[in-house]
Amino acid sequence: MTSHGTLPSLDVHLDEAAADAALREDARRGLTSTPKVLRPQWLYDARGSELFEQITALPEYYPFTAEREALADGADDVARLSGADTFVELGSGSSTKSTLLLDAMSRTGTLRRYIPVDVSAAALEEAVPALVAGYPDLDVRGVVADFTANLHSIPRVGSRLVVLLGGTIGNFEPEQRRDFLAALADTLDAGEHFLVGTDLIKDEATLVAAYDDAAGVTAEFERNALTVLNRVLGADFDVDGFSYVAAWVPQSSRIEMRVRADRPMTVSVPALDLTVSFAEGEEMRTEISTKFTREGIASELDAAGFDVAHWFTDPAGRFGLTLARRR
Ligand code: TRP
Repeated sequence: MTSHGTLPSLDVHLDEAAADAALREDARRGLTSTPKVLRPQWLYDARGSELFEQITALPEYYPFTAEREALADGADDVARLSGADTFVELGSGSSTKSTLLLDAMSRTGTLRRYIPVDVSAAALEEAVPALVAGYPDLDVRGVVADFTANLHSIPRVGSRLVVLLGGTIGNFEPEQRRDFLAALADTLDAGEHFLVGTDLIKDEATLVAAYDDAAGVTAEFERNALTVLNRVLGADFDVDGFSYVAAWVPQSSRIEMRVRADRPMTVSVPALDLTVSFAEGEEMRTEISTKFTREGIASELDAAGFDVAHWFTDPAGRFGLTLARRR
């Protein structure tokens, strides 16, 4: 653990060299597997993060508004039922949605600490000073970490409420999701809480539109992964030769985001000492976004060692939040 520059409230638990090496190995595996697949990490360079911010403001992208509405309604219940004095937010980013919970938990008078955890030091460096200024009575301590790999870096203090918003749990593969829930259960003591946001299964047209907007922002976001591979691995993807596909796969209750080669292509990836060929129409998956039912997420939480304490949604029932309690 290192203390970060002039910000005493930021702890860094990220070994970037190791993370880079792992990401490259994953790229090799993904580009040589059938079907081809990429890690979502390749999406989030500076341009990708900017495009992602735009996605959350798109009219078709209902999960963002729906989760906000649900939180606005349910935050007081979460504060009261959890009784937590420490709020840990995984993947906090700019911490914009967190204020609904911070305010509710401040009102109940139990909250002492806010620990935003994010893989991006830049996001925390921007968010933490504003939070410190806005919540002078709160002990704010940012943690730079990849929470999928590093849950034990969450400080073991007070009575914690761990929060994962944005439907992020839906971006994990089923096995990753199970491992994550098990690791989280292992990190928490009996009686501590976990609040998780999940987008809910609904009609295909609404789901697909949310991930394939008319303005083409999501398409640009997903194809940006190829631009990042070109820059970071010296690859020569012809980015304009790929189109974007968002497909609803009912058997696995998920949207799959894919890029599709419009013609046969050969791509060289010098940093991996690799040449990859694409057939015309071949698709490569860049991300998944799993959709849930109330019962589905409840049973996964139960299997990991949690009891459901509270369930709430936006008024239209599009997006669900589950408050779970470690047994
Ligand atoms: N976790 C969110 C979701 O699955 C956000 C997200 C990740 C997203 N990648 C995306 C949204 C691509 C739109 C497009 O919805």
